[in-house]
Amino acid sequence: MAYLAPSILSADLLSLRQQIQTVSEHGADYIHVDVMDGVFVPNLTFGPNMVKAAKRSTDLPVDAHLMIVHPENAVQAYAKAGADIITVHQEACTHLDRIIHQIKDSGCKAGVAINPATPWDVLKPVLSIIDLALVMSVNPGFGGQSFIPYTLDKISGLNAQRKNTGFDYLIEVDGGIHSGTADAVLLAGADILVAGNAVFGQKNVGQACSDLKKQIQAEGRNA
Ligand code: DX5
Ligand code: ZN
Repeated sequence: MAYLAPSILSADLLSLRQQIQTVSEHGADYIHVDVMDGVFVPNLTFGPNMVKAAKRSTDLPVDAHLMIVHPENAVQAYAKAGADIITVHQEACTHLDRIIHQIKDSGCKAGVAINPATPWDVLKPVLSIIDLALVMSVNPGFGGQSFIPYTLDKISGLNAQRKNTGFDYLIEVDGGIHSGTADAVLLAGADILVAGNAVFGQKNVGQACSDLKKQIQAEGRNA
């Protein structure tokens, strides 16, 4: 079983409630909120209020992807805003173990993301305590970029490690996902596919969402 997480980064923000409701009714499994601080990544987006607004628009779990420095100072606010999953970047955390516990203690699921050039095995020590490993398949900061093919090996690495250890973290993939790249990441072992442009960037958002969801369901998990 694999899941679809549309990213509101590419949504029409002035119609956000309606856009979130549309994907909620067309197969979305999570709502992905891309938080960017203009420091960790060269772009600035949302704060905790957006998570709060998203929660008011759907019953789906909200997945807050924090592309920010010093995420330890922000966890509490995103938890309070209603985030179900809080994902921080390994590259932004000096004390990764501490922040994972901070996220879990705040009642949220804990995810850790790695940039394309970060090897998957930096996560090895924490794989037993995280709920989700997020493999960035583009350099974070912008929607609509092209999928970086070498990130497939990292998904496979995390999937093989999961099989070897019996740990139950989910593998999420984020960036450049569309009908042409989805099968490969699913075959490599991904469980959650984030899609911004391929859903909210399309003319018929509902149709695009259900088409991608159908493809994901057909391919399934861990082939
Ligand atoms: C990139 C973000 C992604 C982005 C994906 O920094 O983390 O979630 O929205 O967008 P697409 O699917 O358009 O590559
Ligand atoms: Zn993201």
